[in-house]
Amino acid sequence: MTRSVTAAIVVQVCVLTALCVQRTTAQEQMAEQVFKNVLVLKGIPADQFMDTMGMFASSLLYDCTGCHVDEILVDRSAFAIATPRIQRARQMVAMVNALNKTYFAGQPRVTCFTCHRGSGVPDVVPDLGLQYGEVSFDNPNAMRIFPEPAPSAGQVFERYLAALGGRERLAALGSVVAAGTYVGFNTNDLEVPIEIHARAPDQLATVVRLPTGDGVRVYDGRSAWAAEEWRQLPLMSLTGGNLSGARFEALTWFPVGLEKAYPQWQVGTRLIDDRELVILQGTRPGELPVNLYFDEGGLLVRSMRWSSTPVGTVPTRTDYADYRDVDGVKIPFRLVVTWTNGRNTIVLREVRPRAPIPAGRFARPAPFTPR
Ligand code: HEC
Ligand code: HEC
Repeated sequence: MTRSVTAAIVVQVCVLTALCVQRTTAQEQMAEQVFKNVLVLKGIPADQFMDTMGMFASSLLYDCTGCHVDEILVDRSAFAIATPRIQRARQMVAMVNALNKTYFAGQPRVTCFTCHRGSGVPDVVPDLGLQYGEVSFDNPNAMRIFPEPAPSAGQVFERYLAALGGRERLAALGSVVAAGTYVGFNTNDLEVPIEIHARAPDQLATVVRLPTGDGVRVYDGRSAWAAEEWRQLPLMSLTGGNLSGARFEALTWFPVGLEKAYPQWQVGTRLIDDRELVILQGTRPGELPVNLYFDEGGLLVRSMRWSSTPVGTVPTRTDYADYRDVDGVKIPFRLVVTWTNGRNTIVLREVRPRAPIPAGRFARPAPFTPR
């Protein structure tokens, strides 16, 4: 595994009194510094580079060994070994860039998914079933919504907060400490313990206790890190859409703050699994939107967020279920997170609102160390 040391950028903030305060900003971990054989996807942070791999896997429905050699399963340095499909994929990146540049004014209108749509060999001949069939191929989780004038976003939030136990009780929820189980792509279907610490308005730390070591993720209100065994670096800084996604995840624990955290909300509706859901789309300047899906009772049942990469945008979906009453406030005890690299299920067993949180819980975690 590549463990290049990353350069911490130290910013000097000097004020007039000549007093200098040293502050370390988020670490720059560029893909080409971290990995050995990056030829086309240069100049992006390592976490976003991994999202490009998710985009490839998701667009072609290949797993990582669809392009990489099988040795990656036992030796991570083998990711750098070139294969004919890796060479082909590099050509495809160049092709996609050229198409967008030449014909779409540099806008990312063509991505791997545009042609591949879940197959290594894109279809050439149109499908009459699509033309005349009954089935809708409309993606219910699409980013785009069709804004409707009523109800207003404020009304949808009011209903949501009321369904959860009321604005007042929720506003008093300064912290949540929860414990339960986690099953994910990285546990081989094994249930392992998870601990969650959340502090209003937007701090979140999760620890997944794998037999091989603890996987830690932290959002401290400004920066986000992941120290997880499966990642390519023992401590990965999250950037771009992964950073705003970490913020969003933290915010969902405190719905009163969530409303204020996005300057603009729009409302739409969608039919998903025969249910008419109300969608709220939140936007912040410089970020892709987040979509929140509410059921008939006003509860949040799904969220979608996105991360853009040089080869297209990757989605992350969270489904919330099994809302239970904890001290007069409803909290979803089952969360399923689905993204391009896997699916994780979190089932809470114990939730303690307003529980004290140990000092330093939201500090930058130590790099992953095997148990
Ligand atoms: C469609 C083919 C394809 C799939 C599927 C794919 N990759 Fe890649 N991978 C590439 C290409 C192409 C490169 C080289 C990128 C470049 O040259 O900029 C690469 C490079 C990498 C590297 C950098 C290795 C090094 O040291 O240089 C890592 C790590 C990696 N991939 C991980 C993954 C993971 C994890 C998955 C599964 C989620 C995955 N890849 C799926 C095509 C693929
Ligand atoms: C404009 C359409 C188009 C786009 C966009 C596109 N591809 Fe392709 N891709 C193709 C076609 C066509 C083939 C050849 C399929 C065949 O063998 O008939 C192909 C083949 C491939 C193959 C070889 C598949 C195999 O099983 O041998 C890989 C890998 C691949 N593409 C990766 C990508 C990646 C990664 C992207 C995004 C960066 C991408 N493609 C974007 C059209 C496209």
